[in-house]
Amino acid sequence: MNGRFSVRPLKPGDLDWVVELEQAAMKSPWNKALFASELEREDSVCLAGLARERGKEEPAAFAFSRILMNEMHLLRLAVAPRFRGRGLGRLLTRKSLAKAAAKGADTAWLEVRESNTAAQAMYRAEGFDRVGTRRSYYHDTREDAVIMFRRI
Ligand SMILES: CC(C)(COP(=O)(O)OP(=O)(O)OC[C@H]1O[C@@H](n2cnc3c(N)ncnc32)[C@H](O)[C@@H]1OP(=O)(O)O)[C@@H](O)C(=O)NCCC(=O)NCCS
Repeated sequence: MNGRFSVRPLKPGDLDWVVELEQAAMKSPWNKALFASELEREDSVCLAGLARERGKEEPAAFAFSRILMNEMHLLRLAVAPRFRGRGLGRLLTRKSLAKAAAKGADTAWLEVRESNTAAQAMYRAEGFDRVGTRRSYYHDTREDAVIMFRRI
């Protein structure tokens, strides 16, 4: 199925489906203005994952990262529920790392909810290690954040 997915830079015209997917996937969703400001930044890497089905291309996933000096910070990544489990999350993670490396990053960091074992498994499969915990990091539930890191 991986052959049916492609990745390209996100465009302002993508933000409506990005917000829709964000609301379906995240406990404390970002709003459109926040995504729009991220897209405008010079130091961001914003990618769309598309699925080709019956000859038609459909939005299926997104990833937002920022490059701070030599560090990539993966801020947001989600795959639409019906496209999960087919390698798209992995593909977007890899493409984000490659773009970040091309912009000079040599390490990558992210935070993920302690309860989000699916995402942690995916990041582990892509070479990230758990390196710490931020206590009560998420304001909505006071849940801890797992800090994950890898070299690029
Ligand atoms: C986490 C998420 C992005 C994974 O995307 P995906 O496209 O389903 O993941 P992939 O198919 O690329 O899976 C890659 C690996 O992750 C692991 N994985 C993915 N989903 C998993 C699950 N539900 N349970 C356990 N492991 C899982 C597996 O190791 C898998 O490798 P394998 O298929 O070779 O076994 C997706 O579930 C999602 O959008 N969740 C909601 C949003 C979210 O949590 N974002 C991350 C916040 S930091």
